[in-house]
Amino acid sequence: MQIKDLKNKLLGTIANTEEPPAEVKEAATSQFPPVPNDALIIVPMRGTVLFPQNVSPLVIGRKASIAAVQQAVRVEQPIGLIMQLHDQDEDPGPDNLHEVGTVAEILRYLTAPDGAHHIVCQGVQRFRVKEFLSGYPFLVARIERYEEPELSTQDIEARVITLKQKALEMLNQTRQMPDELVNAIRSIASPSMLCDLIASYLISKPAEKQEILALFDIQERIDRILELLNYQIEVLKLSNKISEQTQETMGQQQREFVLREQLKAIQKELGEGEGSAAEIEELSKAISAAKMPEEVEKQARKELGRLQHMPDASGEYSMIRTYLDWLTELPWSVASAGVIDIAKARKILNEDHYGLDKIKQRILEFLAVRKLNPNGKSPILCFVGPPGVGKTSLGRSIARATEREFIRASLGGLHDEAEIRGHRRTYIGALPGNIIQSIRKAGTNNPVFMLDEMDKLGSGFHGDPSSALLEVLDPEQNSTFRDNYLAVPFDLSHVMFIGTANVLDSIPMPLRDRMEVIELSGYTLDEKAQIARRYLVNRQLETNGLTPEQCTLTDRAIETIIQDYTREAGCRNLEREIGTVFRHVAMRIAEGVSVNEHIDSEQIPGILGPRKFERDVAMRTSVPGVATGLAWTPVGGDILFIEATRIPGGGKLILTGQLGDVMKESAQAALSLVKSRLQELGLNQELFEKNDIHVHVPAGAIPKDGPSAGVAMFTAIYSAFSERIVQNDIAMTGEISLRGLVLPVGGIKEKVIAAARAGIKTVMLPARNQRDFEDIPEAVRNQLQFIWLEKVDDVLKIAMVK
Ligand SMILES: Nc1ncnc2c1ncn2[C@@H]1O[C@H](COP(=O)(O)OP(=O)(O)O)[C@@H](O)[C@H]1O
Ligand SMILES: [Mg+2]
Repeated sequence: MQIKDLKNKLLGTIANTEEPPAEVKEAATSQFPPVPNDALIIVPMRGTVLFPQNVSPLVIGRKASIAAVQQAVRVEQPIGLIMQLHDQDEDPGPDNLHEVGTVAEILRYLTAPDGAHHIVCQGVQRFRVKEFLSGYPFLVARIERYEEPELSTQDIEARVITLKQKALEMLNQTRQMPDELVNAIRSIASPSMLCDLIASYLISKPAEKQEILALFDIQERIDRILELLNYQIEVLKLSNKISEQTQETMGQQQREFVLREQLKAIQKELGEGEGSAAEIEELSKAISAAKMPEEVEKQARKELGRLQHMPDASGEYSMIRTYLDWLTELPWSVASAGVIDIAKARKILNEDHYGLDKIKQRILEFLAVRKLNPNGKSPILCFVGPPGVGKTSLGRSIARATEREFIRASLGGLHDEAEIRGHRRTYIGALPGNIIQSIRKAGTNNPVFMLDEMDKLGSGFHGDPSSALLEVLDPEQNSTFRDNYLAVPFDLSHVMFIGTANVLDSIPMPLRDRMEVIELSGYTLDEKAQIARRYLVNRQLETNGLTPEQCTLTDRAIETIIQDYTREAGCRNLEREIGTVFRHVAMRIAEGVSVNEHIDSEQIPGILGPRKFERDVAMRTSVPGVATGLAWTPVGGDILFIEATRIPGGGKLILTGQLGDVMKESAQAALSLVKSRLQELGLNQELFEKNDIHVHVPAGAIPKDGPSAGVAMFTAIYSAFSERIVQNDIAMTGEISLRGLVLPVGGIKEKVIAAARAGIKTVMLPARNQRDFEDIPEAVRNQLQFIWLEKVDDVLKIAMVK
């Protein structure tokens, strides 16, 4: 029979009962009445139930139980196994036992070498206790055996099918399916045997087993087992699901681990080795030394971890390496003292710069505010002015005065946001942007940072650089400035930014709003001479390794250099030319040709070559039809000549000199204005009918547009027709209306300075520009005579040679 095979498989082959051990026989002499036929020796069991038809080994520990078992073996009677109510009862009496138990045959009795008593029992049938009997050294009870009725109804058979399904399903869920058990469940026909088998193997809680045991009615029994199975199946499903999920993640980690190990092995085979341990160690130290913010250090360590598992010949290795170099070399925690001492700052500014009193004063005010309120939102200074007027040099002085590092970055021509903010590391050859690169160069996190050429910022289609710059300059945002390459925030809030530009108008409006603009105008001839004498000469002597004794430069020589070799608002070319002169001298002294040199203006052409610029005054030939105008350019003002001449023709206006549209219209208007007042001007109508008028504006470098040459055009045309000469030391600017009014124009300060520089004696300006007079440097004001024009007629009264 199959159930027997199952028992054998599960428990091993059971031999026949052995001869009882010696002490069992001795105990037989004990005196107590024989157990009646309708009674059984009862052995209490702790936490286990034996079902009929099932075989199970039991350990017998308690004295009473040993005696009971020994007596049963001696008289060759079955025993009654009953589960006790509570596990913890050491010596359970009748009240502490369940009512229903199992009649069991003792198949085997043995004592183990350690003295423990074991029996192997086979369940026979259920019984119910009727009454316990006294007078025995163990429990004895009169019982009622329960005979399983072998009848089967449709109800029961249907239940049996379900029971088998559920049992198999549960086995499936446990993933341990002993074939014998499966086969047994499939083949057993007897409902009671099936129940007891399933209850024995698939119901795990002793209390539930006992409950099943006590259910004599087969239908009730099956239903209860089904209930318990269903519940257990659900629990199993759930726990399987949970363990699957945890297995999955475990699986991934393990997979990665295995792959890494394999990778290591392959690299070893190829002789590539892991990132050299010494290098990793060094980087790790550098990370600690950089004292990064927590977030940054975490990122650095993460990257270092990746590096560790990479062959050092791989491209990615060097990419991460470069990245870590950037992170470790940035001045996360390195700062200059940055103390602000106003007296000292004043001294330094004066030491380095001639004049510029108003500008120095504003810088000192700015520093004072910053000193009193270091964490306040101080505006960003922006120096606006032509090249060479000392913007950069002022920035350097500020850095020196506040004991900070000085760095510059040019924004000229930047049209890509990435140039400011960097490229993401996913780009080949990506690097941080300008800002972070400069900060690394500075080596401190609170330098004076000069942003040059803010007016030349482009804007392309790769994001607007000015918006990135806005973030850099915004004190609300720049403490967490995020460069795309670094991908971690860097604190720029301690940086002192200073902008520079040639023209204010070209700075994007939002940027301009954020800055405090300080305008620097060009220098006059006299100022340049002063700057050269006090600063440039000494600096260039030093640069070229000369002492003041070895070389002197006379005032006249300096003046010659300024007038004949430079034409600029600032001092840049002037300094360069002085440098050229000194290099020449240095060579002669080094060659031993001379011991010291005294350079006067006569020697200059011999060294610098023929003069590069005509003196403006020399260009002013006194012929009819020429008037001197004033122009404004981004690099400072300049004078320009308007030439008018009449040629035989039919009254046409010819314009040359690459004039812009507005300037052309301005010439038209000037001509019309002349024609409209022939009588007042004393001109002959016929002249205009028989001649064409040619207006030309020479001097190629100056952009020629705008309405401000109107007055000069009018004057030139009048001069050409009246043949009266315009005074050559008078320059003029102003727009004209057809009614002859003179309208105001821009750039007065630069224009006037240029006029002074060119040796002009009198400037004629629109009366409505009088408000700009304040801005004109005092030295220039003293040098010139100012005529304020209401109407064009005012010009002719004064400007024409009598
Ligand atoms: N007021 C001044 N006093 C002394 N040197 C000056 C002055 N203005 C300009 N310079 C010198 O002229 C040169 C050019 O100046 P720089 O600061 O480079 O001009 P910018 O940055 O405005 O183009 C520098 O050598 C500078 O020291
Ligand atoms: Mg500069």
